[in-house]
Amino acid sequence: MTPQDFDTLVRNRRSVRGFLPRPVPDTVIDAAFESALWAPSNCNVQPWSVHLVSGERLRDLGRALTARAASGAAAPDVPMDTAYTGLYRERQIASAKALYGAMGIARDDKQGRVDAFLRNLDAFGAPHAAFVFLPEGFGTREAADLGGFVQTVMLALTAHGVGSVAQGALSLYPEAVRAHLGLDEGAQLMCAIAFGYEDPAHPANAARTERAPLASILTRHAP
Ligand SMILES: Cc1cc2nc3c(=O)[nH]c(=O)nc-3n(C[C@H](O)[C@H](O)[C@H](O)COP(=O)(O)O)c2cc1C
Repeated sequence: MTPQDFDTLVRNRRSVRGFLPRPVPDTVIDAAFESALWAPSNCNVQPWSVHLVSGERLRDLGRALTARAASGAAAPDVPMDTAYTGLYRERQIASAKALYGAMGIARDDKQGRVDAFLRNLDAFGAPHAAFVFLPEGFGTREAADLGGFVQTVMLALTAHGVGSVAQGALSLYPEAVRAHLGLDEGAQLMCAIAFGYEDPAHPANAARTERAPLASILTRHAP
């Protein structure tokens, strides 16, 4: 692989939010997660565990999460309460604009936006979702390890021609996920990765995001 090949792979990964129902072969799924095992982590503690949910079981879970969302406030294991301001708020708005714009949902179409959000809870109709957990008591430092793990899974899936999207939204109702999967309390649900073959006709998949220029984030100090 050349450096250019790597850059192309990284740029080819983008969030996919509309999937064909065709399942991804187990061999491909295993290969992607095997690659991600090689993500770095603090002291090599490898603080990730994954529950993979597929097919009708995932649709059932989606219905349970949608019902749960209608019945009360979210209670994620890891709080999701950062209020983005300034530059970060501008970027948040730009990414929402790209997505809702691609889907033809107007800014004042509140119901359209709610419906678009609720698609999250059904993993955007993906044939698979990997729920990613952090061990009990682990904090921000180890959560950073999960970021590398999740990105490696998504890059590997991209290399296999499989689309994906990381989803914090699937961690909003962890007790419903645990109940559905028969899991004990303890491990913290961080996010999920919905994945499958991209539906090129789905309007959400026309959304494209931008990135800030390198100079805005990289400060070089004199040697
Ligand atoms: C940890 C994490 C959680 C995310 N949660 C969601 C989510 O709940 N719903 C969603 O539609 N996109 C979610 N995203 C996708 C981001 O919106 C997306 O990565 C960002 O807008 C950049 O776009 P790109 O992935 O197409 O490059 C999440 C991404 C990450 C890394």
